[in-house]
Amino acid sequence: MNPFTIEEQERMPEHVAIIMDGNGRWAQSKGKPRLFGHRNGVENVRSVVNTARELGIPYVTLYAFSQENQSRPVAEKSGLMKLLEEFLKIELKSMVRDGIRLRAIGDLNGLPEFARKIVLQTIEKTKANQDWNLTLALNYGSRQEVLEAIKSISKSENLDPESLEWDDFSQYLQTRDLPDPDLIVRTSGEFRLSNFLLLQAAYAEIFVSPLHWPDFNRNAFIDSIKDYVHRERRFGKTREQVVSLT
Ligand code: FPP
Repeated sequence: MNPFTIEEQERMPEHVAIIMDGNGRWAQSKGKPRLFGHRNGVENVRSVVNTARELGIPYVTLYAFSQENQSRPVAEKSGLMKLLEEFLKIELKSMVRDGIRLRAIGDLNGLPEFARKIVLQTIEKTKANQDWNLTLALNYGSRQEVLEAIKSISKSENLDPESLEWDDFSQYLQTRDLPDPDLIVRTSGEFRLSNFLLLQAAYAEIFVSPLHWPDFNRNAFIDSIKDYVHRERRFGKTREQVVSLT
């Protein structure tokens, strides 16, 4: 049964972006190594992706590896990359079957060769899919993305910087074919954006869950969406100008 009323279903987010935090703390609280937390984190990716699809939320973006995560111990980084490889190898079949298109944002050149290869292959094999959209932020940093956009614009000969509008600028971001996120979810109780989609999140609602990512299950995800559909999104307008569901 759909946990949302008809009115709530009309206010579902189109794009939810998630900062999956707390794998390490979750594992440590169980006396296990950090990679145990990441492995369980991947299991949770499956659960949340399935729930989002079931709820009819067409775009989900996951912050899987930030540029700042490059400073983590080598063993943790390579463990994460192997988990990513395993995830994509296992999921390719169901992505093709279910019409899921994979995209990636971030500097893929900073990934180990085996990880970059499987990411690019999966993007290629799913590029015609149109039913659902999963984007992985890999070696991603919002400031770096903006800098790259500015560098490209400055090299572009037929563009007058004086007449540049946001809609033109946003075409130079790696998220150019994604809608802006409506909702940013962060787990583990941290109230930070951590260099994630800073400009794209200009009008996003933010939901922080105290749960560590491996514990942020289907029900917790549904609760975050329930909270979102009752928010009043004003985009700079007055209360009277917007209709809300209270
Ligand atoms: C944050 O927990 C999590 C990460 C840095 C990596 C998230 C990656 C995955 C869930 C696995 C790979 C993803 C896919 C899509 C296959 P943390 O290590 O920062 O936790 P802590 O703050 O408690 O130390």
